[in-house]
Amino acid sequence: MTSRLNLTGFSEEYLVHIPEIDEQHRTFFTLLDTMGKAVPDLYKPLDDEGADAIIDVLDELRDYAMLHFRTEEGYMQEINYPGLAKQKREHNRFITDVIRMQGELLNGSAMPAIKIRNFMHDRYRDHILNLDKPFGKTYKKIKG
Ligand SMILES: [Fe+2]
Ligand SMILES: [Fe+2]
Repeated sequence: MTSRLNLTGFSEEYLVHIPEIDEQHRTFFTLLDTMGKAVPDLYKPLDDEGADAIIDVLDELRDYAMLHFRTEEGYMQEINYPGLAKQKREHNRFITDVIRMQGELLNGSAMPAIKIRNFMHDRYRDHILNLDKPFGKTYKKIKG
């Protein structure tokens, strides 16, 4: 198995059809894939150096996610979206998960980077499909 496999990035099925949000989602997946470049082998348990590199990527990812969640929640407020509270909860949970993962890495848990990357990828993919897409539909209905 190669360490530089072609990771699954953004997919057309993720489109919520609000250009600013789609662009941010795209960037998020690009950032996620920089994890593959941060360590020599995604499948090997991280050593200290690798853990530091992944913690740095997670820092970036967390900052970006926070910016993105603020943007998204702004669109939701604009139409008094009834799903806003649930979205906020899930956004916070995501940030908490990133911080928890960084903590585990700091404490020297030697997991392979692919495990972190896949966890974040699947979590955010599910969030887009189950929560962001339905919001996009409602927004379009109201805003045309
Ligand atoms: Fe969201
Ligand atoms: Fe989103």
